[in-house]
Amino acid sequence: MKEKSWNVTYPNGVIKYIDMFRKKYFQYPVFDKVVSKYIDSNSIIQCKKICSLGSGTGRHEVELAKLGYEVIGLERNEESLEIANKYIKQNNVNVQLHKCDFLKEDELDNVMAIVGKVDAVVLLLIPISISDYKKAAINMHKWINNGGVFIVDNFGYEDYINPNELKITSNCEVASDDDSYSLRINYYEYMNNIVNWDAIYLFYDEFGKLVMSRDHDILDIIPETQVNEILNLNTTKYKTLNSYRVNECTKYICPPYLYEYIIGWLKSDEEDF
Ligand SMILES: C[S@@+](CC[C@H](N)C(=O)[O-])C[C@H]1O[C@@H](n2cnc3c(N)ncnc32)[C@H](O)[C@@H]1O
Repeated sequence: MKEKSWNVTYPNGVIKYIDMFRKKYFQYPVFDKVVSKYIDSNSIIQCKKICSLGSGTGRHEVELAKLGYEVIGLERNEESLEIANKYIKQNNVNVQLHKCDFLKEDELDNVMAIVGKVDAVVLLLIPISISDYKKAAINMHKWINNGGVFIVDNFGYEDYINPNELKITSNCEVASDDDSYSLRINYYEYMNNIVNWDAIYLFYDEFGKLVMSRDHDILDIIPETQVNEILNLNTTKYKTLNSYRVNECTKYICPPYLYEYIIGWLKSDEEDF
């Protein structure tokens, strides 16, 4: 039985090091071109304004802005917001960030009342539960222009994997920037379409102290063919689009045994059409 909800939180001071690994292993410029293509080929309005839920350290947002979109990022983690704001400034792009928990409808509505309606919403690499995905889609529905889209990325098992077998695997990565480095030990446990991912970070902090910090994420594996029945979104409000397997990026962006795909919904309030 799956948990209904779980928290995505980070120990203090670790985001800077997590961001080094994001930069090194996740090919944002390549991935976001795929996202942009998906948005443009599936929306029935011209999408100019995008809202990104869980914008983290701003990497998707900067790439999407470079592709010409006006981008709004919603994020609740202060450290991430701080790093993202610096990164946006360095790149001199059109991205506005807001501190917001997108699962809290009142908080979200207050922020979106300032932002206004958007043409597309993206939820990329956010390890929340399926019911929270659904909640995010429902919460954002009224803030998407008709003919716009709501898009998420999901993981599915590679075809050669038996999803019913327990799998345990681990690996080790190193990333650095100009003045520091970090070692990351990843430990993955796969069972019942859930991946428990422990990432243990080892680094010297700004005071020269050796720190070991754990980030634990839970990923839902959603088989590509079952995404509709699992998410079960109201079909009069959202029309499901075809999914797209991301094969433009190297395999490093995924935990082992998984592939990544994008799926979206067209916002279609039947009454308004
Ligand atoms: C794994 S990170 C991914 C960040 C970014 N989307 C990327 O792909 O680089 C997930 C982010 O979602 C944020 N997050 C998770 N749940 C959230 C919520 N309910 N409201 C706002 N931010 C949330 C976390 O704080 C974290 O920054």
